[in-house]
Amino acid sequence: MSFDLSVIPNKNIVLAVTGGIAAYKSAILVRRLKDVGFNVRVVMTQGAQAFITPLTFQALSGNPVHTELLNPEAEAGMGHIELARWADLLLVAPASCDTLAKFAAGLADDLLSTLYLATKSPVWVAPAMNQQMWAAKATQRNLNTLVQDGVHVIMPDAGSQACGDVGLGRMPEPEDLARQVTEYFHKAQRAIAEKFGMLAGKHVVVTAGPTREAMDPVRYISNHSTGKMGFALAAACYAAGAKVTLIAGPVSLDTPNGVRRMNVSSAVQMLDISMQMLDEGCDIFIATAAVADYRVAEVAEHKIKKAGDDLNISLIKNPDIVATIAQQQKRPFMVGFAAETRNVEEYAAGKLVAKKLDMIACNDVSRADIGFASDENAMIVFFAEQYQMQKRDLEKASKQEIAQQLVEAIHDALHYEIEPV
Ligand code: C5P
Repeated sequence: MSFDLSVIPNKNIVLAVTGGIAAYKSAILVRRLKDVGFNVRVVMTQGAQAFITPLTFQALSGNPVHTELLNPEAEAGMGHIELARWADLLLVAPASCDTLAKFAAGLADDLLSTLYLATKSPVWVAPAMNQQMWAAKATQRNLNTLVQDGVHVIMPDAGSQACGDVGLGRMPEPEDLARQVTEYFHKAQRAIAEKFGMLAGKHVVVTAGPTREAMDPVRYISNHSTGKMGFALAAACYAAGAKVTLIAGPVSLDTPNGVRRMNVSSAVQMLDISMQMLDEGCDIFIATAAVADYRVAEVAEHKIKKAGDDLNISLIKNPDIVATIAQQQKRPFMVGFAAETRNVEEYAAGKLVAKKLDMIACNDVSRADIGFASDENAMIVFFAEQYQMQKRDLEKASKQEIAQQLVEAIHDALHYEIEPV
């Protein structure tokens, strides 16, 4: 599965399995939902238990399976009302004709139909049945009623059926169902972040990774930057509600969910795209890229041939991207990074002023346990003088956690009222 596994925090799904041959697919669906990080509890109707055992679902979901409405033992564990409240989504897959009819009529004579009436969560049904039963007027009438009642119907696929018929009525594959559920939660989460997130309404541009400076058509000068910190920051800014553009040098990392990525190779290209982003309207510019300080003065048109004992190549200075952006009239809030091997704080504070930044995050790359290729980092953050904000020590943590703390630091600085002089 290719969707992002990292961003569904603690959501609860009640998967209701009803009587139909597609029930076997629901076992795999539980696995796929768990893979994404959902908590899953399974409800089975009597009919479902004729096709597959509760034990299968108990093993796969890691939770006891709910099968009865009026069972004192089960009610003492998680009662049906509690289960109805626990659900962030009630997903009925497969949904039999009978279940659809019960839902449409408002019956409450078993656990699932009662749960349907008792839950405030969204309800999704994935009908699966013989094509003739699907086409039956009563089924279509019930479906219409359910849609009017606010139930989301996942349309069945067409194809050959277990009964030998061909037509509409197959339950979509578990991967497809899990993807649809995941996308739904992503969208809901995004809508909240866009409204209430710390960076809601902001366009953030992040530069990340190394740059590659060509020598000839096959060789280049570069560095060991992996881009991990920049990618983590792009993801954290997106999670905080921002629109994010990630200008990435050559790295082998997946693009974070929701982030617009623009790939570049050289420092000059990175500056070009950064300036374009400024024209587009950029509120916060975060420069994590390890930009090569120099580039080859004249890139050879053809592969440089071996000849003689030494080879002299003339280098010229690359533009300083972050400093160039900071000099523009309509400048965004500027965040720089400094990787130093000594006098870390002193050099970082110097760069903050020299490059006209609003904030700088620095780390000591001489420490073997953090920095470049590591998954962890530790940083000290300084703010420009006008913010009158104390420096912050971000203790060693995963790059994701550090990114989150940097987002908070940016948010705090943006909300700092600069006193009029
Ligand atoms: O001067 P130094 O390379 O140490 O500065 C680091 C900071 O400046 C980082 O934020 C880096 O992304 C940015 N930078 C840049 N363009 C350069 C060199 C550094 O944007 N040519």
